[in-house]
Amino acid sequence: MTFSETTRPQPAPSPRYPGAAEYQRALQHPDLCLSDPDLAAGAADLSPLGLPRAVSGNFASVFALTCPDGRRFVVRCFVRGPHDLGERYAAIAEALDEIEAGWKAGFEFQPSGIRVGEGRFPLVKMAWLPGLQLCRYVQEHLWDSSALLQLAVRFAALVEDLRSSGIAHGDLQHGNILVDPGGNLRLIDYDGMYVPSLSGRPGGERGHRNYQHPGRTVGDYGPDLDNFAAWVIYTSLLALSLDPLLWGRLDGGDECLLLRWNDFADPGRSAAFACLEDRPDGTLADLSRALRSLLTLPLHEVPPLPELGELLPAARARDGRGDGPEFPAAAVLVGAEVATARAAVDELRRQRAEAELDQGRAPALRRAQEELRNREAAQLKAMQDHLAASLVELIEQERELSRAEQAQRAEALRLLRRESMRAELERHPISRFYGPGVSPRTHMSLSWAGVRTAADVGEVSVEKPSGPGRPALTVIRLPDGRQARLDSVSPEGARALVEWRRWLESRAALVAPELSPAEEERILSFSRQRRRHLSDAIEKIREGARDEEERVRAELAQGHDELAQALLAEQRRLAARLHEVDVALADARRALAELEWRHRRARP
Ligand SMILES: Nc1ncnc2c1ncn2[C@@H]1O[C@H](COP(=O)(O)OP(=O)(O)O)[C@@H](O)[C@H]1O
Ligand SMILES: [Mg+2]
Repeated sequence: MTFSETTRPQPAPSPRYPGAAEYQRALQHPDLCLSDPDLAAGAADLSPLGLPRAVSGNFASVFALTCPDGRRFVVRCFVRGPHDLGERYAAIAEALDEIEAGWKAGFEFQPSGIRVGEGRFPLVKMAWLPGLQLCRYVQEHLWDSSALLQLAVRFAALVEDLRSSGIAHGDLQHGNILVDPGGNLRLIDYDGMYVPSLSGRPGGERGHRNYQHPGRTVGDYGPDLDNFAAWVIYTSLLALSLDPLLWGRLDGGDECLLLRWNDFADPGRSAAFACLEDRPDGTLADLSRALRSLLTLPLHEVPPLPELGELLPAARARDGRGDGPEFPAAAVLVGAEVATARAAVDELRRQRAEAELDQGRAPALRRAQEELRNREAAQLKAMQDHLAASLVELIEQERELSRAEQAQRAEALRLLRRESMRAELERHPISRFYGPGVSPRTHMSLSWAGVRTAADVGEVSVEKPSGPGRPALTVIRLPDGRQARLDSVSPEGARALVEWRRWLESRAALVAPELSPAEEERILSFSRQRRRHLSDAIEKIREGARDEEERVRAELAQGHDELAQALLAEQRRLAARLHEVDVALADARRALAELEWRHRRARP
């Protein structure tokens, strides 16, 4: 077979492998290049030119070898492959070891199984499997409708088996499915196989494009990888079991069964889909339409084939034998539609749950509202801070002004009172001072020393006598700073003088004067003007801040309004969407119920 239709993109980075011709040369001498004893003893199948015959695929050159004891092996030599080829094959081997399955083909990955030139390269060793590629088998049984129907059913069983093990082959197509003489299916070529332990790695290939959904990319890799190809193969086999003439009409067997990549890419202009759907029996047309509808789904939503129990009457599935032309193909076909209808109901259910969750939440709008509120608060706070900072200095100046005013008032009052006190004390001549030992002579000597009225009596102290027999001296500080030193005033007299002055002072304090209104006014007018300037400045700043706050609120008010309206509109839209999904869901459920009823009726 040729591989011109295989669209396996080159995975990167890829180690350098020998080319097909180099392997071919090397395999002229298996004993020299192969390390496995079975293989080294074998001889490669030869082409008419006498060279080892290679089936060259995109990833590998495949050679068949026969050992002297008659055993046959297949050797897969890689011409390209992912850097983790060994790990992948180990994971696949481990996964397949765990399961019992008729479709498995044993293999052994040998990391440096073949020497080419100076290098050693990996290979996969397999036992040769008797059987025909799927296309050849179909061609040979084209007129055996029950064999083809049975083939379809066995294929569906194989797909179900893969699914239940969580495995996907990755490149289901005629070249990778062998049918043995008993009609049993075997899968080969596990390069692109997915097993659960490989989850998370990139795929690395796209599979044969005549079997793949047009949306499949190199990156797609997972347990659902085979869904679309399974529908293609199943539909083709069923179609051929119903009408073998389709093989000739649609050029079946030419790198495909009946359908090709261009039918999938543009189903509206596909002669093949038109041909399958333009039929009187309806059942095949329904299946074809079901397959066609899968093309409108994104790859990850393509449902798997229905389970075998859905496809077949229970009794037939158990014995697994096709029983002639009365085989209930209708059940098989309706089962396909049921699966699609179920997938539609599931999808709508999912959409409904999503719409319901969104209902009234409109998270983006709520977030925007919250953000707007925060922005407003932040802007207002920044303004308040700025205002406070601008006011701090002015307020401090105002405070300073008050302090200065107080100080000025206190000083004026102090001077006024000092003067009035002085005047009051001056009204009391020293001659009116009486005390122990105070005589008119004492008054005289006080007067001569400058102490004429009570106002002249400053600080009074007594100096001790300077020698025995000498008198103590009384020292009086006069208002001009001079000192009067007297021996005519005894210490007792000095104490009495101090008391006299204190008594006069306390009497004078009772009539202490206050600042006159004129004096008050003089002091106030000094700071009044300055104060007015300050309060004008403060008021101006406050006014500016009020305007700014209004501006910010007005500016954001529009945003608040718009968001509230958008929220309302979004809620209405979601409600309408929910209603729409509800209607669609009701329709889909009705359609499903009807199909299920037809399906049940088709079973005996
Ligand atoms: N174990 C096998 N037994 C019999 N035929 C095989 C075996 N392995 C491969 N082949 C034949 O070789 C062809 C190519 O092998 P495959 O493993 O699919 O390589 P490729 O990567 O080229 O597709 C298959 O289509 C099949 O006809
Ligand atoms: Mg292959």
